[in-house]
Amino acid sequence: MKTTTEKFGVTPHQPSLWTRADALKVRADDPTTTQPLVSADFPVLNNDVFIWDTMPLRDLDGNVTSVDGWSVIFTLTADRHPNDPAYLDEDGNYDILRDWNDRHGRAKMYYWFSRTGKNWEFGGRVMAEGVSPTAREWAGTPILLNDRGEVDLYYTAVTPGATIVKVRGRVVTTEHGVSMVGFEKVKPLFEADGKMYQTEAQNAFWGFRDPWPFRDPNDGKLYMLFEGNVAGERGSHKVGEAEIGDVPPGYEDVGNSRFQTACVGIAVARDADGDDWEMLPPLLTAVGVNDQTERPHFVFQDGKYYLFTISHTFTYADGVTGPDGVYGFVADSLFGPYVPLNGSGLVLGNPSSQPFQTYSHYVMPNGLVTSFIDSVPTDETGTQIRVGGTEAPTVGLKIKGQQTFVVAEYDYGYIPPMLDVTLK
Ligand code: FRU
Repeated sequence: MKTTTEKFGVTPHQPSLWTRADALKVRADDPTTTQPLVSADFPVLNNDVFIWDTMPLRDLDGNVTSVDGWSVIFTLTADRHPNDPAYLDEDGNYDILRDWNDRHGRAKMYYWFSRTGKNWEFGGRVMAEGVSPTAREWAGTPILLNDRGEVDLYYTAVTPGATIVKVRGRVVTTEHGVSMVGFEKVKPLFEADGKMYQTEAQNAFWGFRDPWPFRDPNDGKLYMLFEGNVAGERGSHKVGEAEIGDVPPGYEDVGNSRFQTACVGIAVARDADGDDWEMLPPLLTAVGVNDQTERPHFVFQDGKYYLFTISHTFTYADGVTGPDGVYGFVADSLFGPYVPLNGSGLVLGNPSSQPFQTYSHYVMPNGLVTSFIDSVPTDETGTQIRVGGTEAPTVGLKIKGQQTFVVAEYDYGYIPPMLDVTLK
């Protein structure tokens, strides 16, 4: 793998490593890094649709932005099928879990708006049917570009393939609500290259998605984070001393951990508009540790780069584990070196009694963390569950140096604006 670059004045860098030794420090149920229990009597945003990944409208510096006093979020969304014979079980009851688990295949971008940063009102689909070139509209980022209301929606066009794309439109407000206009022409930006980032041909289970564009607070250039896997044929990766890290005696065996190859990718724009991108080597790799570092994003605070990414228990490698939730790393400069927050990387995980209660956490610059409810047990044994597909209670974090602390819990889907833009 190419590990250095000298493009567009970007400093050559080595990816930072999330090591097996780091991951051995993960402690489930530490109250400072565990999301409070979500009660099974949660309210549902909308009974016609499931929603999961939530993408607040923001500016290129990361600030969550309202327009003319309206907060706006985008969500991955799929219809619920309570009356579809395909989703009835043997007893003729709606099999909501199967419907929920199938959602990724029909994910579409929707938007919602609110005057209060919660109790979101249904906006609708962002792109009309047929505009997006593939079956699935997967996660990304809506960027408010200016006070004319122009929005660049970066997202992932999936199946066939996985392409990072963008589509431009405009947010329009009235006293009564918000609408999205335009979003008619999708521009493909880039795909995995097989040299730095794994392709589908190299691994049918590859990940390449979740663009998060930003302006670097130090050099002012336009960059983009995304989720990837380290290039190479599936099974060919080496889990050596560097990937293992400083483990105690008896922890040298890496099992089949060569199959877990997540990385956080980065690209730099060659132009001011972000239409022309060059992929750079990953910022962070997790070879031998975890197979997915999804929805990577930054909080810029105290002159530091706080890199957050979501991951799952099921994507951990042999011999290491941790809860579903958000993990974080910190560096003094964009290209690292990054060190795991709280020693292990774990920032906010699900409690072990409700391992699937929430996912797809997004840490905002004000320390608030939004996520969605996946499923919550409704009995002691955890065999009965209630499926979510709705916004989880927001959690407040304090980020201090290389540590984070859970300090507050707020209402369901509370995503207050940090800036209000008055449209001209
Ligand atoms: C996170 C995620 C994203 C992806 C989307 C697919 O929940 O896996 O990485 O874009 O969901 O539904």
